[in-house]
Formats: sequence, structure tokens, C-alpha cells
Amino acid sequence: MDTGLGKARLGNTGLEVTRLGYGAMEVRAGDRGRPIEDEEAGRILNAVLDAGINFIDTSIDYGRSEEFIGRHISHRRGEFFLASKCGCPVGQQGPGEHVFTKDNIVAGVNQSLQRMRTDYLDAVQFHSSPAQEALKREDAIQTLLDLKADGKIRLLGSSSTLPNLADHIAMGVFDVFQIPYSGLNREHESWITRAAGAGAGTIIRGGVAKGEPGRSGVSRPDSWAKFGEARLNDLLDEGESRTAFMLRFTISHPDLHTTIVGTKNRDHLAENVAAARKGPLPHDTYAEARRRLDAVGVRA
Ligand SMILES: NC(=O)c1ccc[n+]([C@@H]2O[C@H](COP(=O)([O-])OP(=O)(O)OC[C@H]3O[C@@H](n4cnc5c(N)ncnc54)[C@H](OP(=O)(O)O)[C@@H]3O)[C@@H](O)[C@H]2O)c1
Repeated sequence: MDTGLGKARLGNTGLEVTRLGYGAMEVRAGDRGRPIEDEEAGRILNAVLDAGINFIDTSIDYGRSEEFIGRHISHRRGEFFLASKCGCPVGQQGPGEHVFTKDNIVAGVNQSLQRMRTDYLDAVQFHSSPAQEALKREDAIQTLLDLKADGKIRLLGSSSTLPNLADHIAMGVFDVFQIPYSGLNREHESWITRAAGAGAGTIIRGGVAKGEPGRSGVSRPDSWAKFGEARLNDLLDEGESRTAFMLRFTISHPDLHTTIVGTKNRDHLAENVAAARKGPLPHDTYAEARRRLDAVGVRA
């Protein structure tokens, strides 16, 4: 089915992913998340799939997110690729210290499989960008390879940031990397290209910079100041929101394969889908936006 969302090959993995993915952190509920009723979580997760989005990211750490995925869309498991994390504390509903021992990783993957009512995860990513030494000390790569041999996971991944991202790429063992990036956070811009150049799939988080203040449920009032300072408002299409422009900026990165935008709001999801269907920014607009961001110090 052509959803109009645009697809990319996820590095050398053989997976074809929609450029707009979905980050399921916003449906975590509980103490650390915004409230969301069980039924509404089901409606948004099904709307994601109805729009044709075929890549979903979640984590053990995201409260009830894995549980909701299992309850509401596990019957549609063939329609989407599913990525979760490992190293997170097992048996609780929120984040804590991450440890990469065999026992904790295996228990975490088994818990994710059970919560999400599936017998395989397409990708498991080390959460919180662990130092290479910690992974080596615990022989954590071998643990993931054993889980892959058992058929419980398909791809090895890491949710990585600098400086450890550089080491992780050099290790040459990861199929995919999750990397933060947007027009307001360009620190990893060239590293996305390096990861893709090494054959890895690139999963971009933070692709709408948490949404523009006043419209997003989570962004801080001053967090988009650089957008105005760079005079990006001038570059918007008629009727285009700043968040939609930001998403189109993000998917204009030539080495982005998917961006897992999070939302618990179905109107926001529809806006993101429309922006992704419109596609990357025109070449000149993209170049001008980058030039203006450079000029206010938001550089790659
Ligand atoms: N270390 C890690 O591995 C890590 C860390 C953070 C996140 N993640 C993953 O990455 C995903 C996305 O990350 P993120 O939440 O940091 O960044 P993001 O996708 O840039 O921002 C998500 C926020 O933007 C708002 N938003 C989305 N679409 C919008 C729209 N059209 N208009 C206005 N606001 C909009 C949402 O609020 P509303 O719900 O109000 O729409 C949501 O809270 C997460 O869901 C999670 O899967 C991973």
C-alpha cells in the first residue's frame, strides 16, 4: 500500500520503513506521563497504523506503553516493525538505573515480549547510550546475538548520543541507531550521515523538537526561541504550522530513515502525517533554513 508517507531502506537491514514513524513514549500514562485513558491509547495506536506508519518505538521505561501496544495493536503485528530498549530496570513501570548484565537484558526482552503479546522484536536498542566499556564488561553484544539466534530479536541497536555514538558506530556491530535530531538540535547532523554511511539504519527521535510551545502538551515556553531568532517563520508555507515545518526540516536530512515522532493527540498525529505526505522541504528552503540556523548558532 502506498501511504504517501515516503519510505526508506533502514540501512542494510532489508526493512522498508516509513519516514514518519511513531514514538510511543507519550502513551505511558502513570506517575511520570500525562494521563491517557486506556481506550484513547488504543485509538491513537490504531490511528498510527491506519495512517500507514509502519515503525513504532517504545521502551520498558515508558510506563504502560508496552502494555497498551500489546492490548490494542498486537492483533495487527504484521503491519508494523517494533523496536524497544534494553538495559532498563525490569519489573517496574518507569525509569531507573540501566544495567547491561545478561540477566537484566534477557529478563527485559522477555518482559517486553510478554507485555506486547508478540514473539519477536524487530529491534532492541541499548537504552541511554552506555559507554562501550560497560557493554564489553558485561559481554552485552553477545547477549543480544544469543537473543537473535533464539529468534526473539531481529536487529541489534543502540539509542546513542555523542560522545559514545562515535564508539558505537566504530564497533561495527549495530544494525540501527536511534539518534536525537531536529532543526533546533543539530548536534548529531553529520553523525546521522556517518551512521548511515557505516550501513546502519537511522531512527531519529526529537524530530519535532517536542512540538511548538502553546500547541504541544510538553514543550517549555522558551524552547523554540531560536526558531524565531532564525526568522524561520518567513519560510513557512501558507497555513503551515511551525511544528509541521520542523518535521519537514527533519525528514529533509538525506540520511534519515525514519523519525519516531511522539504524540498522544490524534489531531497532532494527523498534522504530522499530512506534513510527512507533503515531504521534505524544497531544496532551496532547506538550504536557507540551515543557513539561518547557522547564523544564530544552531549548527551541525
Ligand atoms: N533515550 C531514548 O532512547 C529516548 C529518549 C526520548 C524519546 N525517545 C523516543 O523518541 C520518541 C520521540 O521523542 P521526543 O518525545 O523526545 O520528541 P518529539 O517527537 O520531537 O516530541 C514529542 C512531543 O511533541 C508534541 N507534538 C507532536 N506532534 C505535534 C504537533 N503536530 N503539534 C504540536 N505538538 C506536537 C507531542 O505532544 P502532544 O502529545 O501534546 O502532541 C509530544 O509530547 C519518544 O516517543 C520515544 O519513543 C527515546
